[in-house]
Amino acid sequence: MKTALITGITGQDGSYLTEQLLEKGYIVHGMIRRSSSFNTGRIDHLFKDPALHDERLFLHYGDLTDSSNLNRMLERVAPDEIYNLGAQSHVKVSFDVPEYTGEVDAMGTLRFLDAIKEAGLKDKTRFYQASTSELYGKVQEIPQTEKTPFYPRSPYAVAKLYGFWIIVNYREAYGIHASNGILFNHESPRRGETFVTRKITRAAGRIREGLEEVLVMGNIDSKRDWGYAPEYTDAMWRILQQDTPDDYVCATNETHTVREFIDLTFKQLDMELEFQGEGVDEIGVEKATGKVRLRIDPRYFRPTEVELLIGDYAKSKEKFGWEPKTRFAELVRIMTDADWKLARQEKLLSQH
Ligand code: NAP
Ligand code: GDD
Repeated sequence: MKTALITGITGQDGSYLTEQLLEKGYIVHGMIRRSSSFNTGRIDHLFKDPALHDERLFLHYGDLTDSSNLNRMLERVAPDEIYNLGAQSHVKVSFDVPEYTGEVDAMGTLRFLDAIKEAGLKDKTRFYQASTSELYGKVQEIPQTEKTPFYPRSPYAVAKLYGFWIIVNYREAYGIHASNGILFNHESPRRGETFVTRKITRAAGRIREGLEEVLVMGNIDSKRDWGYAPEYTDAMWRILQQDTPDDYVCATNETHTVREFIDLTFKQLDMELEFQGEGVDEIGVEKATGKVRLRIDPRYFRPTEVELLIGDYAKSKEKFGWEPKTRFAELVRIMTDADWKLARQEKLLSQH
């Protein structure tokens, strides 16, 4: 039975990965942060299962900014695999908290790698680093591959750039089995509500139920390569099963604008929109009712934007047979259905 340690276990990816590893028979240890409100919603269904809690699933308080805690956890758990998913993961927020983002996303990765080395675990423990397509930023090549030069465009991406290279360095310098998954955007009904896809499907469901009037957005011209999160957490596991550590792109090789995502979401809820005007004056009008359902607010613009991402996953396909299954329209359908259901439940509750 293998043992895995997951940072960021309470996040979107951490929750799917935990389910998948438990399914494979792993013992899973997760790092959680102390919070004044509940932050374990995505894994409560696992944590509340008596067959798992403190049997095969263990949670530990910790933080990627706290080395002594990382050292203790490594000593206690001595995991076969570490999945470093913990991060200040919001690009826009990283402009507001750049130093903290660097502490967690860059230095946090170094702290962990160094703790592995110092604990004498370098020949036992394999390390997965949650690297990102944000590294490509102002893209130098289309589509982006493992060989495309990086050009990060936010404090988040610059911090993740450090994380990427410190993985490569510890691999080369000390022979640690450490790999980067360069994952393009991946979404699901568990996506945080301030990321664009979930913000759209959540608001659209609520508008459909009369709980909200209008969706307010930033730049809807940017393009992303969106895939389905559980397929990407499966790729993380496959990356660590390779004999040799390496860096891999996971993506769909398809790109769509934020506007397309909005358009399709509203269509799926029978609220077709007509886009009128340009720039900050653009609006989306519901054709059937003439109501304004979309507005633009520069508050959501980023000081530097990543305009276009599209990834080539050929290496992942060749090395470990990974391919995305869920495509754009299906992803929008999954998320829209889930959030419409949630909105209907909210409406029912509000009526009682
Ligand atoms: P997420 O939902 O935002 O989850 C982030 C996780 O990190 C949460 O569990 C959070 O804990 C934890 N965390 C934040 N600060 C921490 C700290 N100082 N110490 C320890 N843990 C901390 O992110 P995600 O979408 O699952 O993404 C997982 C990882 O993949 C992240 O590193 C992200 O940057 C990277 N990534 C994501 C995508 C994507 O499209 N989703 C693409 C490429 C790379 P709380 O729950 O307490 O906040
Ligand atoms: N969040 C958000 N909110 N984004 C908006 C909005 C809005 O109101 N309006 C427009 N956007 C645009 C952003 O400007 C960006 O171009 C795009 O929608 C996607 O934004 P996010 O969903 O916040 O994701 P991201 O691409 O910046 O970052 C995510 O993907 C990365 C992988 O490429 C995060 O999950 C990162 O952690 C991850 O590394």
